[in-house]
Amino acid sequence: MGSTACEICKHDLACPVHERACPQPSNSQELVHIKPNIYDQLDIPESDRLTSIRKDQAEYMYEFVSQIPAYNTLETGFAYGCSAAHIISAKHKNGFHTVIDPNQESKYNNIGFRNLVKLRLATKIIFRNTYSYLALPDMVAGGQIIDFAFLDGSHLFEDILLDFYYSAMMLTNGGYIMFDDAWMKSVVKVAQYIVANRKDFTLIPRTHHNVIVFQKIGSDEREWNHFEPF
Ligand SMILES: C[S@@+](CC[C@H](N)C(=O)[O-])C[C@H]1O[C@@H](n2cnc3c(N)ncnc32)[C@H](O)[C@@H]1O
Repeated sequence: MGSTACEICKHDLACPVHERACPQPSNSQELVHIKPNIYDQLDIPESDRLTSIRKDQAEYMYEFVSQIPAYNTLETGFAYGCSAAHIISAKHKNGFHTVIDPNQESKYNNIGFRNLVKLRLATKIIFRNTYSYLALPDMVAGGQIIDFAFLDGSHLFEDILLDFYYSAMMLTNGGYIMFDDAWMKSVVKVAQYIVANRKDFTLIPRTHHNVIVFQKIGSDEREWNHFEPF
């Protein structure tokens, strides 16, 4: 750990959780190696390209998921299917990828679906055409288990917190939750809540600068009145 470590949590390199001017790793440090070129095969309208995750992040996510024992995975926010295509392609085993998005037809003209069909990945998804705050409790009630969640749906603070809350309930021990858009205050606030209050999760250092990743390392053992300000 050198002088680049976050002063609070001591994670080195990027530490979006504590909002310090932690040095951001360059892309060359973030990527291990790139496998298939999925990104360039996706149809994403130029006028709305920034809605999807960018190519360097997509490739980072491919690498990340390919290195964990991901079986059943989850994603809130499908849009053009960019993150979904990379998560599904990277998976080690033949589980399913649940995607939740209420706007695939109405706002995205089903382009996300068409991208997955084109890449022959569409049979791997379970699509929930609704808001995550409705779909996730239903999944919990149904006893679903996940190994990895990518949260990129609504970016309102309380929606992100709810996405985390329900995803955490379904996550296997050792599983990961990845938040998109680490630059957003709402995302950072949720991450600060987790660092301060959820000792069953640990923050993963040295991730891509636009994501915040936590690993589940135990069960939630808090007393009924536990609360740490964040
Ligand atoms: C930034 S885009 C996701 C981009 C996508 N991950 C990709 O790489 O192409 C955000 C998506 O979240 C969806 N969304 C908004 N509110 C939502 C909610 N409450 N539950 C689930 N999805 C939601 C939007 O319809 C939109 O498709």
